[in-house]
Amino acid sequence: MNEFYQKDIISIKDFDKEKLEKIFASTDKIMQLNSVERREICKGNTLAYLFYEPSTRTRLSFDSAMASIGGNSLGISDITSSSAQKGESLADTVRIMSIYSDVLVLRHTLDGSSRFAAEISDKPVINAGSGTEEHPTQAIQDLFTIKKEKKKIDGLKIGIIGDLKYGRTVYSLLYGLGNYDVDVRLISPESLRVRSDSVYEIKKRLSYTESTDIEENIDELDVLYVTRIQKERFPDEEEYLKVKGSYVVGLDLLKKMKDDSIILHPLPRMNEISTDIDNTKNAKYFEQAEYGKHIRAALLGLILNKNGF
Ligand code: CP
Repeated sequence: MNEFYQKDIISIKDFDKEKLEKIFASTDKIMQLNSVERREICKGNTLAYLFYEPSTRTRLSFDSAMASIGGNSLGISDITSSSAQKGESLADTVRIMSIYSDVLVLRHTLDGSSRFAAEISDKPVINAGSGTEEHPTQAIQDLFTIKKEKKKIDGLKIGIIGDLKYGRTVYSLLYGLGNYDVDVRLISPESLRVRSDSVYEIKKRLSYTESTDIEENIDELDVLYVTRIQKERFPDEEEYLKVKGSYVVGLDLLKKMKDDSIILHPLPRMNEISTDIDNTKNAKYFEQAEYGKHIRAALLGLILNKNGF
């Protein structure tokens, strides 16, 4: 039996290098199949999405991925249009949606929400973002993008810049990178360094250096992963205003980077990457979003087929 069959995806910490490489191989396979072959993979299966927070990429890429492999999707993208608005609990909402579907994709404001949902649902749950905690399928997509664009992950120097305190993609990416031999540099304002309660977990997996200066050793990086300052997660707007616009990656910075370096961003971006960068060969964030669809199709295919595809 395929090891992902009927399994939840809650944390990237549950994925070792071998598992990640299997997902990458399945993603490569999906990308090589023609559309008729692809549509056989999850024919007749239903994905339910339940999003308590806004999303463009994650929800639509799951939707599009499911359609591409022959399944269908239903769900709630605007929680105010659901009975949660009348006070229905997360537990009851999950229980009901798992009756109508084969797999449930959940985004929620609270840390621990997906693990909680997985305990209630009798269908597999995929964490599409849980508070400031994790966004595991984004990290799988990020690692896959690095591997596709740099042809390897081991041995790379990777800078991660921006909101390292509240950015859940950062935590999932760091835990995922812990499976590889990489040199990680974290760049952020002092107030947005990785949370102290996560430092132990991260240091168990990899070593990193920290800096507030984007230009320090910028010429050594193979990958610059840029993140948005997560305005919505600041308890105090004054604190947000102090760090807003701290870093902008523009052509002047790109000139100081390696010619073959790549720039990634989980998106959405505000102004932390200048649009001048978009048409350079180094900008890979739109490709990253596209790989996200294929990664999610592969994950759904693995979760919903006993013997894989
Ligand atoms: N990267 C990401 O999670 O984007 P969305 O918030 O648009 O889903």
